[in-house]
Parts: sequence; structure tokens; C-alpha cells
Amino acid sequence: MRLNDCHNFHDFRNLAKRRLPSPIFNYIDGAADDEVTYRRNTKCFEACDLLPSVLTGVNEIDMSVTVMGQKLDMPVYCSPTALQRLFHHQGERAVAKAAEKYGTMFGVSSLGTVSLEEIASNYQMPQVYQFYFHKDRGLNRAMMERANEAGVPIMMLTVDSITGGNRERDLRTGFSIPFRLTFAGMMQFAIKPMWGLNYVFHEKFTLPQLEEHVNMASGASSISDYFTKMLDPSMNWDDVAEMVKLWDGQFCLKGIMTVEDAKRAVDIGCTGIVISNHGGRQLDGSRSSFDQLAEIVDAVGDKIDVLMDGGIQRGTHVLKALSLGAKAVGLGRSYLFPLAAAGAPGVDRSLDLMRGEIERAMILMGCCSIDQLTPQNLRLHSQAPTVN
Ligand SMILES: Cc1cc2nc3c(=O)[nH]c(=O)nc-3n(C[C@H](O)[C@H](O)[C@H](O)COP(=O)(O)O)c2cc1C
Repeated sequence: MRLNDCHNFHDFRNLAKRRLPSPIFNYIDGAADDEVTYRRNTKCFEACDLLPSVLTGVNEIDMSVTVMGQKLDMPVYCSPTALQRLFHHQGERAVAKAAEKYGTMFGVSSLGTVSLEEIASNYQMPQVYQFYFHKDRGLNRAMMERANEAGVPIMMLTVDSITGGNRERDLRTGFSIPFRLTFAGMMQFAIKPMWGLNYVFHEKFTLPQLEEHVNMASGASSISDYFTKMLDPSMNWDDVAEMVKLWDGQFCLKGIMTVEDAKRAVDIGCTGIVISNHGGRQLDGSRSSFDQLAEIVDAVGDKIDVLMDGGIQRGTHVLKALSLGAKAVGLGRSYLFPLAAAGAPGVDRSLDLMRGEIERAMILMGCCSIDQLTPQNLRLHSQAPTVN
């Protein structure tokens, strides 16, 4: 199978599976506990149907949206994710290049493998900086100053990860940073030598957002230590309110799941929220973002930009979320598998296919612009009129 044979999420996933040592594939593909939330994140889109309008005179399609003051040429963005140069040596650079080309938003994670400064200066696109809240308040302030100096317009604080999720696939393979592989895990690297050669012959693996603060290179610390020792589970609304005030710009909370928390985000001055369960990687059994979308948009949609992510594999999934009032929709594994499968051309192809799917679905729905999508375009199965 080659890149040109990839026509959808599953094709890219299969190609990534072939290329990656299985501990790395399973790190991307896996989720917490029984992975119920992970499966539900995509399955939930089948619980409702699109209702197209016909003969509307569709001409030019404009799928642009404005999110937290940034114009995006398409209503999907690449959500920040960790460790990308482990999946393909081009890592964040490949994703930023594609995001720039398709005019959409991207940004590095605190656990990113390319510096936020490099991405900010080399690629023209709306950029976010995703960060976690540390016990060390000085470190939190330093990270915000760094992002501010680099000219990043949107801070995105992830609030669903105050401790690490229970990823049992990683426990089985021994996946961690630095690597602490089981014998079986090591054998999986041995049978994928191309990945190993790329890893060894390209720039050394680092975490530039954190390297001044955590020493992972020596093996003295690990990502799991980062979550358990450095992040602050006692973070509360007052702490975040202080950060929002300090930042004094676009500030977004990623991982909001309830109406009450969405209202609090509005109260402390956030300009965006991402309804998210971290791709099912944190609290298994948590509701899917799509299932929570309507009630959150009803409550705060006129006061704050409501985004969502989780389980998006198709343009029609995007249209369903937009119909319920999401301002834009985040992609995770939908660009990570293409990255792992083929680097920059892979991410480019996946965004091109997604753009094409959204455009075709908009035409078939009879819509020229995103604001023409409304809840009237959707019918939940439970709402379907019964036939006598
Ligand atoms: C391999 C991987 C790494 C991730 N790393 C981060 C991260 O560092 N910070 C963060 O806020 N979210 C992270 N996420 C969550 C994504 O930003 C996003 O919420 C999630 O992937 C959406 O679900 P989807 O993969 O089903 O599209 C990660 C997700 C994956 C799959």
C-alpha cells in the first residue's frame, strides 16, 4: 500500500501500522482503560442523520470560519499533540507546513518535539500554544512569556490531564519516554529497521518546550513523572482566572465537558473552549464531545467560541458538529496517522481529502457557507417520526 492508495482514515491508519514499531503505533492508536470513550467518539456520529436541502442554487463554496479572532480557510484544525517527531522525523514541521497550505490552525504541545519559536517564525498560520498547568507557578508564567514573545496569538490550557490516563497498551509494550521497552516491545522495533534508521540519523529527539525544566535525556525523569510529579492536580478556577488575566488575549480551555464549566470559562474571561475528552485517552467512560455539544452551545454559544474534538474521521462528521453550533472541529489521529504513514505528503493528502469531503458534503447539503448549517439540518434517531 502506498500513499496514493490512502483514501480515508482507515487507509492511513493501516499504512501507519505497517511503518511504525507497534509500541509507537499503539501509543497513537490507544486510549484509556477499556477504550469505550475512544470508540464512542466516532460511533456517536451515527446516532444522527444529515437532512439535505435541495434546489438551493449552490454556487461558490465558502468553508471559512473565524475562531478566537483568527480566520481559518477550513473549519477543521490540527489539534496539538505530543511527541510528533517520534511518529515521523519531520514531526511538527510537516503538520505546520500542511496547516499553512490549507490555511488552518495548529500549534505545538508542551510535549512537542519542535520549538514553538521555530513554528511561529517559519510558518504563517493561526497558531496556538497548548500547555499544562504546573505546580511551579514560575514555570507557568515563564511558558506564557515565551509564547507571548514568540507572537503566538492563542493560549490553550488543557484541563483534562491533571494526571496521566491509564493506557494499558503502553503498559504492555513498555512505551514511555525515555524508552523502557519490554522484551516483546524491543522485538517490535527490531522488525521495523527503517523507523530505527530514520530515528538515529535525524536530529536528536528533544522536548524543546520543557528541556530547561525536565531532564528526560539522562533517564532521570520520564513523561509519566512529568504528569505525576510536575503537573498540579489542585489547579482550580482562581488559578486559571489569574492566568487568563495575565495573558490578556485569546485564551482557550481544552477539555471542557459540562455546561457549568463552560459558563465558568466565560465568567473568567476565556474566549474559547474545546469540548474534548482527549481522544478517549484520559477518563474512560467520559461522554463523547459530540454528544455534549448541543447543550453547551445552547448555554454559552453566543458568549464564547465553542470548538470540539474527538473521533472526527469524515467531512460529514465535521458538518454534523458544525450544524450543532461548533465553530470549528479539531483533528488528532486523523492527521497523526497520515504523518506517521508518509510525513509531510501524508498530512497534506489527509487535509486535502478532508477539505474535499467537506466541500462535497456542503454541496450535497445545499449549503454555500458554514453559517447555513443549523440544527435543522440534523435529526437524531430518537427524534425520528414514527411510521404507523
Ligand atoms: C498521540 C496523541 C498525543 C496527544 N497529545 C496531546 C497533548 O500533548 N496535549 C493535548 O492537549 N492533547 C493531546 N492529545 C489530544 C488531541 O489534542 C485531541 O484532543 C484528540 O486527539 C482528539 O481526538 P481524535 O484523535 O479522535 O481526533 C493527543 C492525542 C494523541 C492521539
